[in-house]
Amino acid sequence: MILVTGATGNIGRPLVRQLHAAGVGPLRALTRDPARGGLPDGVAVVGGDLARPDSLKSALAGVRSLFLPSGLGADAEVLAAARDAGVEHVVLVSSITVETHPHLPQAAANAAVERALRESGMAWTVLRPTQFASNALWWAEAIRAGGAVRLPYPEVGLPAVHPADIAAVAGAALTEPGHRGRTHALTGPARVTAREQVETIADVLGREARWEAVTRETAHAELAPFLGAGVADAVLDLMGGDVNDALLAVHDTVPRVTGKPGRTFRQWAEENATAFAP
Ligand SMILES: NC(=O)c1ccc[n+]([C@@H]2O[C@H](COP(=O)([O-])OP(=O)(O)OC[C@H]3O[C@@H](n4cnc5c(N)ncnc54)[C@H](OP(=O)(O)O)[C@@H]3O)[C@@H](O)[C@H]2O)c1
Repeated sequence: MILVTGATGNIGRPLVRQLHAAGVGPLRALTRDPARGGLPDGVAVVGGDLARPDSLKSALAGVRSLFLPSGLGADAEVLAAARDAGVEHVVLVSSITVETHPHLPQAAANAAVERALRESGMAWTVLRPTQFASNALWWAEAIRAGGAVRLPYPEVGLPAVHPADIAAVAGAALTEPGHRGRTHALTGPARVTAREQVETIADVLGREARWEAVTRETAHAELAPFLGAGVADAVLDLMGGDVNDALLAVHDTVPRVTGKPGRTFRQWAEENATAFAP
């Protein structure tokens, strides 16, 4: 039995779809709201809250392999509950920042979860993705409304990764040999700047999408009320304020593991064009 947590999320949804289409089973998908639906027929959808590991007992019963994005709940307690339930292998989504920006608090938190998993006695695979292509959804409201997208670092190009490719690597790690005890850095196939991302979305929509450069201070003032000052600083560092060679590097993990080229940002934009359409 495989349990996919975060099953309605950017990675979880394509992961469930891919595993189901491949006939992998038995398969269970966890959400806090099983009534909401939207997962493929034939997948067992179960309720549970990762912030309350005691709510996961029936979801974990009989599970051998667990897919777990970090930071959705009480990670250390969830891992302990998984081990107690007899889970053999955990595929954890961490972040490339554990390698590229270990000084940031979010990276340190991910490093701690990775460590807890390695020391848990369960087999482990760690996925460290870079910035997701789906982060462009932050701009959806502005683009839908015909406003200008505000970009603090328009010309910094990062190798954004399509969540379906993270899912594809996770699926391989869950179902194929050779991934236990491995840490996979995951990026897209090429660097793409924020400006190029906005222009690609516009091109796909067949209409203009405007953008304007803003200073770091302005962007921080806009983000801090939602994220808190510290997280806003970290996000801005990772968007362009403090990039380094390790964050800029393109990794070949996706084609190596899946046998297919990494999906481009344009492909993500084409698949998600409706989110930006007025
Ligand atoms: N975005 C990036 O650029 C980036 C970069 C590197 C690493 N990451 C990592 O990627 C992971 C996020 O993956 P994602 O984007 O696929 O996730 P997501 O879309 O943000 O969320 C996944 C799902 O988690 C569920 N969820 C939230 N809180 C929960 C809880 N307390 N209990 C149970 N389920 C809960 C929600 O589903 P329901 O509402 O249906 O329960 C949600 O749909 C994180 O570990 C993050 O650190 C992200």
